[in-house]
Amino acid sequence: MKSLMMQGTRILSTGSAVPNSSLNNSQISEIVETSDEWIVTRTGIEERRLLTGMNKSVVDLAVLAALKALDKISMSPSEIDLIILATSSPNDLFGSASQIQSKIKALNAVAFDLTAACSGFVLSMVTASQFLKSGTYRTILVIGADVLSKWIDWSDRSTCILFGDGAGAMILQSCPQKDNQILGFQLNTDGSYSNHLSLLYKEQVYPHPVLNLYQGSFKYISMNGKEVYKFAVSQVPISILKCLNSLNISTHDVNWLLLHQANERILKAIADKLCISNNKIIVNLNKYGNTSAASIPIAFDEALTENKISNNDIIVISGFGAGLTWGTIIIKWKS
Ligand code: UT7
Repeated sequence: MKSLMMQGTRILSTGSAVPNSSLNNSQISEIVETSDEWIVTRTGIEERRLLTGMNKSVVDLAVLAALKALDKISMSPSEIDLIILATSSPNDLFGSASQIQSKIKALNAVAFDLTAACSGFVLSMVTASQFLKSGTYRTILVIGADVLSKWIDWSDRSTCILFGDGAGAMILQSCPQKDNQILGFQLNTDGSYSNHLSLLYKEQVYPHPVLNLYQGSFKYISMNGKEVYKFAVSQVPISILKCLNSLNISTHDVNWLLLHQANERILKAIADKLCISNNKIIVNLNKYGNTSAASIPIAFDEALTENKISNNDIIVISGFGAGLTWGTIIIKWKS
């Protein structure tokens, strides 16, 4: 552990992974009463990827995404000091990040999970940047990965059409301030609305004459779609504006809006409120649906692969979802 005061943060590499198995809207209409037309019109989603097969977990996708990010820059996993796994669907409630550490052989890395649903990647990136800024660590692997297909009630048409599985990874490294790419951030939580989107614990009495215990398991995802929609469209633009204003950056200077891929209507409504042109929105939810903590890093990785992002571009990243938690990061891209 080295102490270097007030370092900047540089994005060195990204990677992503989605399962091979896809489920399109016509196939979903054989499971619940819905239609391709309804789903596309209301959400923009055409298909999603699902992790199928026995003993497959979020760790498999996260490892693939991480290895791709490492491979792109030929980095040895032993260089990683910290791994943060943003997930709400771990395969071990004690944490899944340590399994990733072992599988990718990042033997020098500390690893932990961070749970903040669809805002998980934004919170993890900010957490990582604080460790880098303080000089505590030099190289951090941040992964957003979720397999919400395991937690969906496949008879509930209001949720099962939305979500898909995936993972996205990003390698961040400390750098001199002049090369800093994370210009600022703004984070929020309002727990009084947590009931609008939850995956709750279900208790049952533990049958023992002496122990007065309750044990249980988790229910399915439950969501009040209309309220989550209204929250996202009203609060996310405020967060973005606060963050841009604090940096003296105008909305006209924004090159890309990289928002959590929840619903195309939400993305467009946020852009419209900010008077940012719709062609600056990065969208890939048509292919993957809402992949929760993975949606931002997957979209980021694809945008870079497609050479959409140019030197000095200002990218506004915003996550929002259960908690309710939402937040923004402003990036200045340096290639
Ligand atoms: O990471 C954050 C995660 N969550 C979100 O981003 C969710 C945000 N919310 C949304 O994206 C939208 O609220 C939904 C896409 C979930 C729903 O769209 P909506 O325009 O708000 O529809 P609605 O819930 O108001 O439902 C309209 C109608 C209802 O029928 P009635 O009561 O008008 O007869 C629903 O029963 O559409 C019906 N409906 C469906 N019909 C066909 C709801 N789901 C479906 C469906 N197929 N899958």
